[in-house]
Amino acid sequence: MKVEGKVALVTGGASGMGKGFTEVLIANGAKVCVADFNSQCGEEAVAELNKKHGAGKAIFCKCDVTSKTDFEEAFKRTKEEFGGIDIVVNNAGIGGESDDKWESVIDVNMKGTIRGTRLGMYYLNKDNGGNGGIIVNMASAAGINPNPFSPTYGCSKAGIVHATRCYAISEAAVKSGIRLMVLCPAFVDTPMFQNLSSGDSDQFIGADMVKVKAFIDHIGVMTVEEISAAFLEMVEDDSKTGLILRCAKKTGNQYCTLAVENV
Ligand SMILES: NC(=O)c1ccc[n+]([C@@H]2O[C@H](COP(=O)([O-])OP(=O)(O)OC[C@H]3O[C@@H](n4cnc5c(N)ncnc54)[C@H](O)[C@@H]3O)[C@@H](O)[C@H]2O)c1
Repeated sequence: MKVEGKVALVTGGASGMGKGFTEVLIANGAKVCVADFNSQCGEEAVAELNKKHGAGKAIFCKCDVTSKTDFEEAFKRTKEEFGGIDIVVNNAGIGGESDDKWESVIDVNMKGTIRGTRLGMYYLNKDNGGNGGIIVNMASAAGINPNPFSPTYGCSKAGIVHATRCYAISEAAVKSGIRLMVLCPAFVDTPMFQNLSSGDSDQFIGADMVKVKAFIDHIGVMTVEEISAAFLEMVEDDSKTGLILRCAKKTGNQYCTLAVENV
């Protein structure tokens, strides 16, 4: 599906990869609702995009993905403002393994993504006035390969991988022409990554930063531009349904390596 003329809703679109996805969608002719709970970053991102690409390409909607009301309002407003929704990107996510944080990781990552997927399935469904479309969920390499540092985060992302694959083969998806895919990047250079690589002790369990840094060096770090290009490719290639896109950069290799599986 070409993104030209389409409408997208991107959660966590105010920063990092969500901001990159929003930029690439608008640069290729889409209109985007940036749904994020950070109003300041969200408003700034939207002002920047509309200045660069022309007024009315992006709107901001304050939305905490853990809130059913906020999320429903974001979908409703996007449809009212732009006339429909074709692409839903459930990208908002957090890390945290401390006693105080781990439950929020499940709430934001797993429950927030399933909530956004359910709303996407409703709005894109042809029985409810939709036209089919695409749902991209953001998981992580940590949701496929176990690592010793982030069990809760990995579990939340494994749940996203599995839920996406199940929805991808559901009757409603097949009947309405809804393609669901899940992105599983390794490390990407975003504010979240910069926090964890600079030693945010909440992010990893038993954080031995020497081991964590060796792990990061081994895996490599992608740029937001690289992952955004992979994202655009998966959105525009109609043969990709139930896709798990794994992206990593090998140490010393400037290229993004992609491993692809279909349901
Ligand atoms: N950076 C990495 O190395 C990496 C690797 C694999 C997967 N991921 C995943 O990619 C996604 C984006 O991460 P990023 O690295 O761009 O992080 P980021 O921190 O730069 O951006 C995350 C965005 O999500 C928003 N957000 C957080 N909680 C929210 C909530 N409850 N409701 C609405 N918005 C919320 C934040 O305000 C922020 O704008 C996350 O799901 C993350 O788990 C990141």
